[in-house]
Amino acid sequence: MLTIDEQISKIREDFPILNRKVRGNKDLVYLDNAATTQKPKQVIDTISNYYLEINANVHRGIHALSEEASELYEQSHKKVSDFVNSKFEEMIFTKNTTESINIVANGLEDILSKGDEIVLTRYEHHANLIPFQQVAKKTGAVIKFIENDDNYNLDMQSAENIVNDNTKFISFPHMSNVIGSITPAKELTKLGHEYGAMVHLDAAQSVPHMKVDVKDLDVDFMSFSGHKMLAPMGTGGLYGKEELLEKLHPFLFGGDMIEYVSYEEATWNVLPWKFEAGTPNVAGGLGLGAAVDYLENIGMDRVSQIEHYLTKHAMKRLEELDFITVYGPDANSRGGVISFNIIGGDNGMFVHPHDVAALMDERGIAIRAGHHCAQPLVTQIMKLPATSRMSFYIYNTIEEIDFAINSLVDVNKMFN
Ligand code: ALA
Repeated sequence: MLTIDEQISKIREDFPILNRKVRGNKDLVYLDNAATTQKPKQVIDTISNYYLEINANVHRGIHALSEEASELYEQSHKKVSDFVNSKFEEMIFTKNTTESINIVANGLEDILSKGDEIVLTRYEHHANLIPFQQVAKKTGAVIKFIENDDNYNLDMQSAENIVNDNTKFISFPHMSNVIGSITPAKELTKLGHEYGAMVHLDAAQSVPHMKVDVKDLDVDFMSFSGHKMLAPMGTGGLYGKEELLEKLHPFLFGGDMIEYVSYEEATWNVLPWKFEAGTPNVAGGLGLGAAVDYLENIGMDRVSQIEHYLTKHAMKRLEELDFITVYGPDANSRGGVISFNIIGGDNGMFVHPHDVAALMDERGIAIRAGHHCAQPLVTQIMKLPATSRMSFYIYNTIEEIDFAINSLVDVNKMFN
């Protein structure tokens, strides 16, 4: 068996973009994987092969190309549903986590009424907050938030205090895209079900990084993005328990999502097509299937192991630097996302994350700075204008992390 470093080197051979230079002649160090990951040759080849050899619309033609495209598109649905242990009918292809959550939130408009409670957490990125704010406005439902402890871990006691007989819906992230905290998904789902609530898991930051089994977790819905797990932009998925998806009102209307149409009425297609209106992103869907093949070939346990190895190293190095504040739990109970700030060097000066990211970028290092599409968490809970964020994936190396952290030492010297 290869060591982790040897395996990372081998994986890197599949990602041609990692060899490119940026900002003059600097090696690219890509540490913005929570925003989107790079794509391996296998995924890029799948997309280009579709357009070179197959391109046709699906579920519409009886000609050879359309049949081939439909078959491959359905095979890809099967791969993705198997990947998270769902049934074929329960896996809808969407364009991203945001669209997946909007499908669920739209369906809630028929289900919720005044005084019903929706429970969210303080971690939410905008995709898992705004759709529910809108539903609450339309239905008169009330949103409540589960609090964190001082280390930004989800506080189960707070969850137990908040969830009650009025709770009709709970939605929470499996892993925070800002803090890296991992939530107790199974426990929280069980708590919701004890009160008869439906539970949605925002798995944008977990499906790419760990084994997620929807049956084992027993969540009612689960959303994720393909582009954060090596698949093309504009791909994602929504899992829903079959009996719930049957009841949910479609979000988009048009071709392919129908069974029978007259000038007056229409009936809906079977699952999952009921929620895939119009011509889908077939090349993207095939690319998502290829990304799943790629990750399964490595093994999701190994994917988590690689990320933990990188995160542990980065956390250890960052903790040695007294001018760095890292937010969130220790290396053993977080994913590969590290939010931090430069505060309290010799001059005690807060270096704005946008300056940090710009100076890192001059060296070819891509990190994210800002509120990470989770403005309430960063500004109202963490009470910060912004943070810098490094996020890792299977192709990052210890050398890249060391280079990034040594660069932070230089950035601090410029200000403090
Ligand atoms: N939610 C994405 C991120 O964390 C966009 O960067």
